[in-house]
Amino acid sequence: MNIRIFKSADDIGKAAAMIFASQVLQKPNCLLGFATGSTPLPTYRQMIELYKSGIADYSSVTTFNLDEYIGFDGNHPQSYRYFMMQNLFNHINVKQENINVVSGIPNSNFEEVGKAYDQKIESLGGIDVQLLGIGHNGHVAFNEPSDHFSNGTHQVFLTNSTIEANKRFFEHADDVPRSAMSMGIASIMKARNIVLVSAGSDKATAIQAAVEGPITPECPASILQLHPSVTFMLDEGAASKL
Ligand code: GLP
Repeated sequence: MNIRIFKSADDIGKAAAMIFASQVLQKPNCLLGFATGSTPLPTYRQMIELYKSGIADYSSVTTFNLDEYIGFDGNHPQSYRYFMMQNLFNHINVKQENINVVSGIPNSNFEEVGKAYDQKIESLGGIDVQLLGIGHNGHVAFNEPSDHFSNGTHQVFLTNSTIEANKRFFEHADDVPRSAMSMGIASIMKARNIVLVSAGSDKATAIQAAVEGPITPECPASILQLHPSVTFMLDEGAASKL
């Protein structure tokens, strides 16, 4: 596990975007895994800059996102697909048909949807670099604290702490969907390289548990201690309890 500490969230973004740019240079048709939330935004801004300046070419890349709310289609402004289009995909040259966000259409056969998503990732050779954020309770994607580590992409139910944290994107807390589709812990752990970004002292407890605590599904991010190529990119606040 590599830990890198930066002065600011923007500095994290610059360094994380460089990791994606160098992956794309080495393997133009790579698979990149992306995350939503506020923390990845500086990374996405820098990826757009690297594209505009001609350094990174995403034309052969395939992307997979970690999760999606159940209840919204991809055109809904609160959907994660929409978030990704607005904050990254509309501004770089990734092909529309190479963008994958698991579907959160209600009343689907979620088991089948999840299985098909994982199979698609595998059939294309697996994710080369996966970006992750972390929730206050140590969740990654939407894998909430639990008594077991989840397997593949599946339906999840959000905890009150996650609903509370995510309500800032909605008018009312009641508008936050209660369930989502999420890559499972096993799907995430299959990525060849993982970059976890975290900024702010409000994440310090979760980061400490993930990095120094026991490996337990009560802190889903703690499983990353077992990953052979994971980098935690933190600001001083997020690293303050290490
Ligand atoms: C949501 C997402 C996670 C993300 C988390 C933290 O729950 N499903 O993937 O890591 O929010 O978001 P933020 O970076 O805004 O704190």
